[in-house]
Amino acid sequence: MSGIQYNFAILPHDDHSVRQWAPKFIEFRLDALKAAPASFSSSHEKEARISKAEWISLLCEPAYRVVVGVIRTDDHRALPVWESEWVLISNLYGPRCHHQPYHDNATDCQESSWYLAASFVSPLHRQGGILREAYFACERAAVSEDKDLFQKRQHAQPLRLSGHRSNQFRTRILATIQSKAPALLNYYRSGGLEISHTLIVGDLARWGWEIALNPDGLDKEVIVLEKIIAWEAEPLGRL
Ligand SMILES: CC(C)(COP(=O)(O)OP(=O)(O)OC[C@H]1O[C@@H](n2cnc3c(N)ncnc32)[C@H](O)[C@@H]1OP(=O)(O)O)[C@@H](O)C(=O)NCCC(=O)NCCS
Repeated sequence: MSGIQYNFAILPHDDHSVRQWAPKFIEFRLDALKAAPASFSSSHEKEARISKAEWISLLCEPAYRVVVGVIRTDDHRALPVWESEWVLISNLYGPRCHHQPYHDNATDCQESSWYLAASFVSPLHRQGGILREAYFACERAAVSEDKDLFQKRQHAQPLRLSGHRSNQFRTRILATIQSKAPALLNYYRSGGLEISHTLIVGDLARWGWEIALNPDGLDKEVIVLEKIIAWEAEPLGRL
């Protein structure tokens, strides 16, 4: 659909908000699983059995975010974004420390990972670049959140004994695909994502992504794509 512009939002995941948008998410997600069964690691049959209470608990997890795309309008009534018609949903998981083994002190980590998965675009809105736009919106949100956290941590932590405190940080965005079809790879490359490695889905759990996994598909092989965004924190102001 040309000429249409979209807005993207990560839905708030406090308990009160989740209770308002969860029914719409569950319906959209189940419809997506039914419409494109081969595209997801999960299945409609499995997720239709998840109770509303279990969904709410999962959707409130700090590392589990739901991204929605809605049509941009001139209607500026202050309605919550989830009240608009959704044309895209994606899951953005994170942040996770990227290192193995994890640091003794989590605040020593200067490299986060985020994992974007389970995207679905309503058929009428496909082939117009909405998935790519959503990807970039997620990338900006991940960097912005990392910057906030890192800045807070820099303020809270005393200087290291050496007196050195690095301002460098790397935000890493991950996605997985099941085939190395050239068109698909070119698509992801044009968004800055490159093949990193291949792994068995179950291994993602060891990297902290158990929240994103369907226990039925742990032995499948996937290709991990990643993009690393290096940035420097603002220098701390003088006391
Ligand atoms: C894949 C999907 C999200 C793309 O949405 P879209 O808004 O049309 O995406 P864009 O307009 O930004 O780009 C279109 C491209 O989607 C691409 N694409 C991106 N990720 C893809 C994926 N994981 N699997 C298949 N195609 C994918 C294709 O390469 C296509 O390229 P083309 O233009 O050469 O055909 C949409 O077709 C959809 O919802 N499909 C069913 C569910 C699905 O396959 N989800 C992906 C797995 S998580």
